[in-house]
Amino acid sequence: MRLDKILADSGYGSRKEVKSLLKQGLVFVNGEKVLQAKLQLDPEKDEIVVNGEILTYKKEIYLMMNKAAGVLTATRDNSQATVLDDIDPIYRRKELYPVGRLDKDTTGLLLLTTDGQLGHRLLSPKWHVEKEYQALVKGPLPTDACQRFASGMTIDGGEICRPARLVLTEKAETVPYQVVYISLTEGKFHQVKRMVKALGSEVLALKRVSMGSLKLDPQLKAGEYRELTQKELRDLSNNMV
Ligand code: URA
Repeated sequence: MRLDKILADSGYGSRKEVKSLLKQGLVFVNGEKVLQAKLQLDPEKDEIVVNGEILTYKKEIYLMMNKAAGVLTATRDNSQATVLDDIDPIYRRKELYPVGRLDKDTTGLLLLTTDGQLGHRLLSPKWHVEKEYQALVKGPLPTDACQRFASGMTIDGGEICRPARLVLTEKAETVPYQVVYISLTEGKFHQVKRMVKALGSEVLALKRVSMGSLKLDPQLKAGEYRELTQKELRDLSNNMV
């Protein structure tokens, strides 16, 4: 891998900024000062020191975010805040992207990664990875709401959904509002909101709480993120072999 890519991937700025670091003689490889951006290296074997700091190269990045409401799930936007805006430069590679889309007003678990293969598998209907949502819905709900979810609902325009799970926290027909848990193995556009609407109800707040084995860390405040632990990553990958 080229030295300038390793440095840019590790948060030392754009390729242009990295070239300037090299020109200033601030980069050492295996103890030797290096000026050449094109130098081919193995970031896991060669020792790279930048401005006195040893660089630890991460091959792939895996971040768990608690997405805040009001933020777009996109890599960039000209006028609105996106989930990537506040990510630390050490993680900001051009390959970093959010796995799946949460609506602007939806909160909760969002995985950001550079690992395209894992991201693809988590979303592909072939792999049936379950995504669980907590929703505040307007009641009362029909008494057969859970059966309708389980048998595969048809939503507006005739789209057929895979069987899904609806878990109520109150009796369906008795309360004006209630928290429900909805688990899906696919990701149609606005799917939770459209399924709840098909029941004659409405989603008032929506939060994703898990994706396969990955559970939203309750310590993460809205907008905060952290790297996945080794165990979380192992469990997530093992789910899919
Ligand atoms: N379903 C929705 O309706 N919205 C989301 O953000 C995610 C799932």
